[in-house]
Amino acid sequence: MLKRIAVAFLFAAVVTLGAVYAYLSLRKPAMRPPSTRVVARTPERVERGRYLFMNVANCAECHTESDWTRFDAPIKKDALGAGKIWPAEAGLPGALVSPNITPDAATGVGGWTDGELIRAIREGIGRDGRVLFPLMPYTEFRSMSDEDVESVVAFLRTLAPISRKQEPSRIDFPVGLLVKSAPQPVDGVVETPSRTDRVAYGRYLSMIAGCHSCHTPTKRGSHVEGMEYAGGERFGTEKSGLLAVSFNLTPDKGTGIGTWDEKQFLEKFRQYRDYAQGAPPPATPENFTVMPWLPFNGMEDDDLKAIFAFLQTVKPVENAVETRPLAGKK
Ligand code: HEC
Ligand code: HEC
Repeated sequence: MLKRIAVAFLFAAVVTLGAVYAYLSLRKPAMRPPSTRVVARTPERVERGRYLFMNVANCAECHTESDWTRFDAPIKKDALGAGKIWPAEAGLPGALVSPNITPDAATGVGGWTDGELIRAIREGIGRDGRVLFPLMPYTEFRSMSDEDVESVVAFLRTLAPISRKQEPSRIDFPVGLLVKSAPQPVDGVVETPSRTDRVAYGRYLSMIAGCHSCHTPTKRGSHVEGMEYAGGERFGTEKSGLLAVSFNLTPDKGTGIGTWDEKQFLEKFRQYRDYAQGAPPPATPENFTVMPWLPFNGMEDDDLKAIFAFLQTVKPVENAVETRPLAGKK
């Protein structure tokens, strides 16, 4: 009898798993055809796009080969936008590759329409309709305004075309199936918040600059509710000896930035000025980081001040974080 029940349970479990698998593999991601929008390449847009690409939205950082042996993995400036192979040490679920997004027609995005680029950036759908792995932060870029995403596209078109074929990413099972739920079309008009509303503008920037993404802890791929900006997300691996944990950016007085003033906050971002201009030192367990300090060094004071003003309005969460848990341990 017991055995029969066990077999029945096992059978039921297999059928359920099969159904879940079939559902996940057949499910179509939310997507729509690319828009027919054509971006007018004005000098203002190219300039704004350059700033977002290089110093705010980290496109340059993620889509350019970098020197992993140095502090903050500085990018190889002569390969700007030509793509990057993510090392195993990054602890990602598969062999991840950031594609070549220079205007090279054969190996880059030279043949894409503006609408296709905008859809990839904000909605996570590749040219051929494939779902992009959300390491590409389209779930955050979804809030990027029409004007800003058009500026990024205008700037993309001015990059030097580099012929470099990057292999497509390979995502481990079952993560590859699960990410199908990540893309989402952007509806209607998306405005840039007014700069005079510093909190709203700061919230906007902290979304597209990845502060929210990296400084909110995740569980099984989703941000933990109630822990917005509370830090504690781990980057790197213990095995590689390089591990960094994001800091608590909520205004909690004991464990967050509740006692910092604006000047202190800005100074954090300027402390690596020399590294951003010259060559940073080797990466060690003591200084290892993934926080884009080098690109953010070029962020405007007013933008950092807006981010600070916004962070002061976030719900304080008590969460003590040791940002370099392997420092001093050999
Ligand atoms: C945190 C890293 C990261 C950031 C930041 C990032 N990307 Fe990506 N991007 C990726 C990865 C990884 C992929 C490929 C995902 C895959 O293979 O499924 C990708 C894919 C793309 C694609 C699709 C290209 C293709 O050939 O399919 C475009 C276009 C793109 N990114 C543009 C941008 C732009 C523009 C920005 C800045 C506004 C940006 N990305 C910021 C990591 C990043
Ligand atoms: C790719 C992930 C990532 C992104 C994007 C990111 N951070 Fe971080 N951040 C980290 C990690 C990891 C640390 C801890 C290691 C370090 O201090 O460098 C950190 C540290 C910090 C610290 C230093 C706290 C201290 O110990 O002094 C501040 C401040 C900070 N981040 C603010 C921000 C803001 C503001 C943004 C957006 C503009 C942002 N971060 C974007 C990962 C990230």
